[in-house]
Amino acid sequence: MLIVSNWKAYVEDVERAKALFTLAKRLSKKTKHQLVLAPSAPHLGLLAFRNKTKVAFAAQDLSVTLGGAKTGEVSAPTLEGLGVGYTLIGHSERRGMGETDEVVAEKARHALAHGITPILCVGERERDENAAYLATVRTQIRAVFEVLSQKERLMVVVAYEPIWAIGKSAAEALPSSELGEMVLYIRKVIGEFLPGKAPARSKVLYGGSVEPENIRELAAGSGIDGYLVGHASVEPDMYAQMVKAVS
Ligand code: PGA
Repeated sequence: MLIVSNWKAYVEDVERAKALFTLAKRLSKKTKHQLVLAPSAPHLGLLAFRNKTKVAFAAQDLSVTLGGAKTGEVSAPTLEGLGVGYTLIGHSERRGMGETDEVVAEKARHALAHGITPILCVGERERDENAAYLATVRTQIRAVFEVLSQKERLMVVVAYEPIWAIGKSAAEALPSSELGEMVLYIRKVIGEFLPGKAPARSKVLYGGSVEPENIRELAAGSGIDGYLVGHASVEPDMYAQMVKAVS
């Protein structure tokens, strides 16, 4: 499984970032799962450069530009040069600042063109009785898969993160019974773009209030391939407990 830590802007102190990386290195020796850390851009530069450990790194976002006169942007070649293996794209906190499906799709293309695996975040704002949330998730996935080649589609990791479950507690996360249905649905949508058994091999993660209390249960029978963890990934005790719980 992939256990991706989304540090968001929680970690602002460089010593704290280093300590979390040290902990991840230690935990990575005792687990078969791939640990991935997504620090802020400056900390990513510091920690990921010449990283030779089992821990992998992700950017929290990347630019749609490939460089040039674009103040403040972090381009795919910049991340590639650092050896960054993954990038989140379309996180709801970025979409909330105006990022459209078209922009997210463009980011996926840039990442893949530079050997970086995009972790495409999708998820509805709320659940409704008419199941319109399924259409929301389908639209978000389609927008990206549509612009990719067959080979590129196989590379995309989809992280299902219902917005209503983000930043809460384990008790308020999606129950694992409902998660299983959603994972099937996501693979069905991916199946519109990939032939045969390929969608079964696509990686689907869950994010939204993953904590030590629910991490094991979320995987039981749901068919997920890992987690995208926010607040609990920056608390050393919680992080260690989560990795140990699934290892
Ligand atoms: P959370 O965040 O674990 O704090 O809910 C997850 C995310 O937004 O990626």
